[in-house]
Amino acid sequence: MLKMNVKEINILLVEDDAVDCRLVKKFLSRSGPPGRFQVETADTLSQAIECLSSGSYDLVLLDLNLPDSSGIDTVQRTHETNSDVPIVVLTGLDDEEMGLEAIRKGAEDYLVKGNSLEYLLVRTIQYSLERKSVKQQLLESEIAKREAETANQAKSEFLANMSHELRTPLHSILGFASFGIKKYDSAKPEKLLDYFSRIKQSGKTLLELLNDLLDLAKLESRKLKFVFEPTNLALLVNSVTNEFDTMLSEKNLAVQHEVSNFNEQVTLDAEKIKQVLRNLLNNAIKFSPDGGAIDVAIGRTDNSVRVSVRDQGPGIPPDELESVFDKFMQSSKTMTGAGGTGLGLAICQEIVAAHKGRIWAENRPEGGAVFSFEIPLSLNVYIQEQPLLAGAGSDSGV
Ligand SMILES: Nc1ncnc2c1ncn2[C@@H]1O[C@H](COP(=O)(O)OP(=O)(O)OP(=O)(O)O)[C@@H](O)[C@H]1O
Ligand SMILES: [Mg+2]
Repeated sequence: MLKMNVKEINILLVEDDAVDCRLVKKFLSRSGPPGRFQVETADTLSQAIECLSSGSYDLVLLDLNLPDSSGIDTVQRTHETNSDVPIVVLTGLDDEEMGLEAIRKGAEDYLVKGNSLEYLLVRTIQYSLERKSVKQQLLESEIAKREAETANQAKSEFLANMSHELRTPLHSILGFASFGIKKYDSAKPEKLLDYFSRIKQSGKTLLELLNDLLDLAKLESRKLKFVFEPTNLALLVNSVTNEFDTMLSEKNLAVQHEVSNFNEQVTLDAEKIKQVLRNLLNNAIKFSPDGGAIDVAIGRTDNSVRVSVRDQGPGIPPDELESVFDKFMQSSKTMTGAGGTGLGLAICQEIVAAHKGRIWAENRPEGGAVFSFEIPLSLNVYIQEQPLLAGAGSDSGV
């Protein structure tokens, strides 16, 4: 016999009456192509709940009066167990009111047991499945619409923040250039030098901001290429820390390393992870009190490696531990102007995410913040799966 490719509809029939149960199964078996309806049965509500919690069904045919539950409660509890599966309630001839109430409580439809059951059964099932699928589509498009609105709002906020951040150094450049032009023949050379220094500093800030914005845009659009290579993480941490020697001694800060015991090679993009370490160290230094200590540690879990940077600064208010990773976000404890533009941690988050890792902030019980990131040691597996991220290798993009 020719076997047709039939799309199966898996039905859970919840019915304690053996005769009704056999009847429904018979009606279904002779409707449509053979094998269309796959029927599993449960004769109590608790059995039905067990099936719905573990199995996968397209529809439930539900008798309301079962040995362990009766009436509308049966619908409610079934719906609560799995609200994704449409329920068609089976009612008696004099129970139509109950059927309507069942729809109000989450059922898709109801069927009256009786002479027209065979005729209505398949149509009701199909109608319920279609209605459920349309509802699902509407819900999904509503979610997509809301996400688009949120993204749009985030974009507007981003543009507003960016204009503000760009305007501040530009005003300073234009302002001091104007002073210079106006007073070039009367001002003392030291004064002119001061104007030029300020112009240079603002230009530098502007360039850093633009570079950060460019990096972030490329990271977010997955346009920045990553070159993952086995790397000595301890050496990497040491070399980044050394870059900060001058800043550290200016604030009389001591860095304690707990990295020398770590000898493993870790697959990562060294330049990008250096960028993460630079920002974490830069923040720790910026927010540390003079003479404080900063700890940098590398630790290992079963399948990942973790780097933590601890400081003795003001810490982060608990409700801002996540939002400090948002673009342009500064914590309410550091509104003193010590912070930068608030893009550093957003960039770190993107870089760590491209390594399939995570980054987070905590507070130390004794005061100060801890910023940690973790990357999986099995990253080479991901690289094979995602050749796009592994990149061509020639253009690191940084
Ligand atoms: N170690 C820390 N201690 C206390 N607050 C911190 C620390 N690190 C970051 N923060 C808070 O998180 C904010 C965001 O940090 P992020 O690195 O993203 O930006 P930024 O340092 O202000 O500027 P950028 O890094 O772009 O120059 C900081 O402004 C600060 O409020
Ligand atoms: Mg920073």
